[in-house]
Amino acid sequence: MSRYHYVLGIETSCDETGVALASEQGVVAESLFSQADQHALFGGVVPELASRDHIRCLLPMIEQVLQQACVDKHQLAGIACTAGPGLMGALLIGTSMTNTLGYALGCPTLGIHHLEAHLLLPMLYDKQITWPFLGVLVSGGNTLMVQAHALGDYSVMGETLDDAVGEAFDKTAKLLGLAYPGGALLSRLAEKGRPGYFHCPRPMVNRPGMDFSFSGLKTHVAQTVANHQGPMNEQQRADLAYAFEDAVVDTLLIKIRRAVAATQLTTVVISGGVSANRVLRERLRHWQDSCGFRVRVCFPPLSHCTDNGAMIAYTGYERFLRGNFSQEPLQPLPRWQLEELES
Ligand code: KG4
Repeated sequence: MSRYHYVLGIETSCDETGVALASEQGVVAESLFSQADQHALFGGVVPELASRDHIRCLLPMIEQVLQQACVDKHQLAGIACTAGPGLMGALLIGTSMTNTLGYALGCPTLGIHHLEAHLLLPMLYDKQITWPFLGVLVSGGNTLMVQAHALGDYSVMGETLDDAVGEAFDKTAKLLGLAYPGGALLSRLAEKGRPGYFHCPRPMVNRPGMDFSFSGLKTHVAQTVANHQGPMNEQQRADLAYAFEDAVVDTLLIKIRRAVAATQLTTVVISGGVSANRVLRERLRHWQDSCGFRVRVCFPPLSHCTDNGAMIAYTGYERFLRGNFSQEPLQPLPRWQLEELES
């Protein structure tokens, strides 16, 4: 018998297939496959193609991760997968695989909330993060600000009323002629942009509260491109990308400062794909160092901002320790709210 409890984590909520193995030692093996190139041909995620590719990849990746860690499948103490929220077909692949393996191996299963896993992952790398904290999730499908009281105990303070911030990056990138998913590409283009050539509004900052709205920003960019005399050259596109990124980061910073003032929380955890954004990281670090009171801003490593298996294995392991097993077969929950979770 191994000295360790191993929990396998499976992520298939959208267009990344992620598998990882967690134990007392942390995440000991992982494998990730992004379908981005396949969906780029269509300018966005095609759900049916995503499901088919998860089926193709999942079993070989599970075998690869177990081999990497020299762990036999019979040594698994638990199997965790993303149960929601996400694409129905994609979630169905992960939950079916987990139910089947759990049944065949006689081992407990755990249905993990994708957003909780994003919020928890930085704790794997930074042991100074403790509950409670302010969680800011900025991804392709979600924009959410939460008071994270304890595992499974979250109060949503604000969320997007329309496009998620990553979605706004991707749609704006498309308007600027960049490939899907365009967030990182737009950010790279913006590095060559000059301040002051274009201006984008800061949506909803004059209204009280912590909600966001990013679709107007994308429309503003669309109108700027349409009203421009002739096609934009590379420099003008970079200037517009700069103005867009500046407005998004400013808006997030204003709401984060507001939330910190309202809650007095001193740890801020930013996660999700857009947390890889260089300008966002720099501006938040600058605020942390200059705000005059004790606040700590934490990010996941750049390699783990977007969806991955490690966040599911880690959250699965933490929940395994608390005995949060499922007695029933796991069901896919495409519209699962974070506040419905239990600790
Ligand atoms: O967390 P994630 O995999 O999405 C969901 O789970 O929904 O994040 C993907 C998103 C995409 O919208 C992508 O364009 C964006 O994160 N993204 C970025 C950057 N890197 C990834 N957005 C802005 N700047 C970046 N450096």
